[in-house]
Amino acid sequence: MSERYAKITGWGKYIPANVLTNHDLAQMVDTSDEWITTRTGIKERRIRTENDTTSSMSVAASLDALAVAGLTPQDLDLIIVCTSSPDYLLPSVASQVQDMLGATCGAFSLVAGCSGWVYGLATASQFITSGAYNRILVVGVEIISFAMDFTDRTTCVLFGDAAAATVVEASAEPGGLLSFELGSDGSGAQYLYVPDGGSKAPISPETLTERRQYLRMNGPEVFKFAVRTLASSMKRAIYQAGLTPDDIDLFIPHQANARIIESAARQMRVPVDKFFMNIDRYGNTSAASVPLALVEAIEEGRLKDGDTVAMCAFGAGLTWASVVMKMGTGEISAAHSLFSAGRARYLARRTSDAMLDAAQSAMLPLYTFLYQRRKKKK
Ligand code: UT7
Repeated sequence: MSERYAKITGWGKYIPANVLTNHDLAQMVDTSDEWITTRTGIKERRIRTENDTTSSMSVAASLDALAVAGLTPQDLDLIIVCTSSPDYLLPSVASQVQDMLGATCGAFSLVAGCSGWVYGLATASQFITSGAYNRILVVGVEIISFAMDFTDRTTCVLFGDAAAATVVEASAEPGGLLSFELGSDGSGAQYLYVPDGGSKAPISPETLTERRQYLRMNGPEVFKFAVRTLASSMKRAIYQAGLTPDDIDLFIPHQANARIIESAARQMRVPVDKFFMNIDRYGNTSAASVPLALVEAIEEGRLKDGDTVAMCAFGAGLTWASVVMKMGTGEISAAHSLFSAGRARYLARRTSDAMLDAAQSAMLPLYTFLYQRRKKKK
């Protein structure tokens, strides 16, 4: 079989109309615009209207993505909907999306917390490069507000609702998905979870009294995990593609906290303006976060044909996932040739990064100790 590449050929988004600002939240819980802005970078987020459902938002974003790709729903071979907030526990929301679109292909939902869409993109690319399918719709969507406790200031200021969809197509031209990394550490499940409502602890009167139907998060633990993971996972995926961070035109990180993104930029020795951010307008939209940022990066002209993009998400599970993609077509990497200046540069940067990573890991406990001591003194 000839080489096949998996490329993003269509993209679209759906943003609910309700805007919830930091000032609005300050009327609801003991918080302030100043705290939320300086600690997270978020100014406002969107909350579903009464007409929005996870399936309707997916369909709206998907129709835009199909139009950009020049396809109809009947052209699709598979639909993957990545979400932790489906319309129903059962059946899968992907089947409602398939039906509402009028598509005639298989459909399944994928749950990997905020990492969902990146997992979905890597999954779709395997169906394509294996030759099984040619056209796959991958949606990242979340009505996470349904699981928010709007009396808990440690979580309700962070999250928002949104949908974004991408069409992934087979191509014989080099490019598209170059590498990926999928990760999971289930030992951190309790740091970000919804205690009740699953088969282990069905909803009961105690659930409602103790508000255990809502999302709970140990922010500082997830923060430490995110800072450890974002830069290191992206770097592994970049090197796996035979590239270095200098070869990446745009980084699209999960929009969980601007401070996490700034720390990743520092760790990777990359200017922070190469990291796309729209967290100020949407907050953390979980599985919709990275695809929504991708769609807006394309719309704003920050990502063009021929550009190389590195994307990484992390979240509940704990999970993380990174991909490196070449938009459009073109030469993939000089590092794959045996002898060249490109390969020499690649090996030098890889070696210096490995040494810096080792030094940073060794220093992390000291930094954490100093940070916590500073916080206690304040
Ligand atoms: O997509 C999933 C991934 N999720 C994440 O990546 C989230 C990662 N975690 C974070 O982004 C940060 O940990 C938070 C933004 C959630 C919290 O920031 P922090 O600097 O880690 O704050 P903290 O939890 O250590 O809390 C510091 C203080 C506490 O008060 P005391 O105990 O020092 O008096 C909190 O009670 O800030 C307080 N606090 C707030 N104050 C005003 C917590 N939330 C708020 C709030 N408004 N909304």
